[in-house]
Amino acid sequence: MAKVTLNQRTHVAIDVGTSKTRIHIERLGMVFNESTIIATDFKTKKVIAIGDAAKNFVGKLSGNLQLKYPMKRGVISDMAILKLFLATILKKYENEIKGAIVTLACPTSVTHLERNSLVKAIKELGVFHVQVEDDIKLALLGAGIDITKPNGYLGLDLGAGKSTAAIIATGGTVTSKWSKSAGNTTDQEIVKHLKAKHQILIGDITAEKIKNSISTLIKTKTPLKTIAYGYDLTSGMPKDIELTDKDIAKILQSTFGNLTNLITGVLEDSPNELAGDVIKNGVIVTGGMANIPGVKFYFEDFFEIPVTVVKNAANATIDGAIAHKELTIEEYEVTHSPVEEVSY
Ligand SMILES: Nc1ncnc2c1ncn2[C@@H]1O[C@H](COP(=O)(O)OP(=O)(O)OP(=O)(O)O)[C@@H](O)[C@H]1O
Ligand SMILES: [Mg+2]
Repeated sequence: MAKVTLNQRTHVAIDVGTSKTRIHIERLGMVFNESTIIATDFKTKKVIAIGDAAKNFVGKLSGNLQLKYPMKRGVISDMAILKLFLATILKKYENEIKGAIVTLACPTSVTHLERNSLVKAIKELGVFHVQVEDDIKLALLGAGIDITKPNGYLGLDLGAGKSTAAIIATGGTVTSKWSKSAGNTTDQEIVKHLKAKHQILIGDITAEKIKNSISTLIKTKTPLKTIAYGYDLTSGMPKDIELTDKDIAKILQSTFGNLTNLITGVLEDSPNELAGDVIKNGVIVTGGMANIPGVKFYFEDFFEIPVTVVKNAANATIDGAIAHKELTIEEYEVTHSPVEEVSY
């Protein structure tokens, strides 16, 4: 049988985000772009639903059904569940992933032990090689930046469970810091605010919808408006309320205030030689929260350096994992090339 070259092997890109998991299989395209949730039967342990189908059960659980979140606040919350989640999706593509090479995006917070455990679990599905890369580095690659050059770039990924700031140069993460201040904490603050200020109890999904429809960092002439549905705390009856961007302005200011501290922290830790690069190249912003109007001007105003908000910001990490194929192969060849014997 003819030997299969690394390039001929199918490339699989995986990004398990706190809110969304994205999986791309070469020649098939994006096979999964859904919520990182799994619903199992409490008694039989069987998987009942996965992804968006499982998200539909949030707040509506009955019987033996239970929901599990493999990722929480930017870290792996349950390794066994994460493995079950990935295996359940990937098993559907058993034939395609057999002998494949995988580029797996991982938050910078994931330990070596956890990374190895994930690699082992994915390999057990018949995959040939799994290369783990920092998600923030892949996000910059997905933004179209040549990360292999000795040119420093400051990336800021604003996700659901965490925000990460990092300086990337010469194909690696030079310094990085992450914070829980991100999409989910903003949603939770909206829940708290409506409870305290308007005596309305809303769920996390409603809070996320409010955030995604009326968030802005720009002063609006015509306010952005939305209607929120919840339960009146005093009467216990369902109630609706009209909200404008002003209602969540303070919450957003607090989230973005934390993000400026995150960037400052990374800049303080970065080698002085890279300061010039960062001033020239500016900040590259990715992740779902980068969709908030005014993100560019907010950071430009604060740091007085150019800021680029990437198109399709929420997909930057998976786009980078897809684009990493050649680098994954190169890395494999370097680490697996036979050591030449030297005779003296
Ligand atoms: N238009 C929008 N305005 C505000 N927030 C948004 C918008 N669109 C998406 N988001 C938020 O972006 C977050 C999802 O971003 P992303 O898909 O980058 O996260 P993730 O990769 O799943 O999470 P993480 O990288 O933190 O593990 C969610 O909190 C979502 O509500
Ligand atoms: Mg992410």
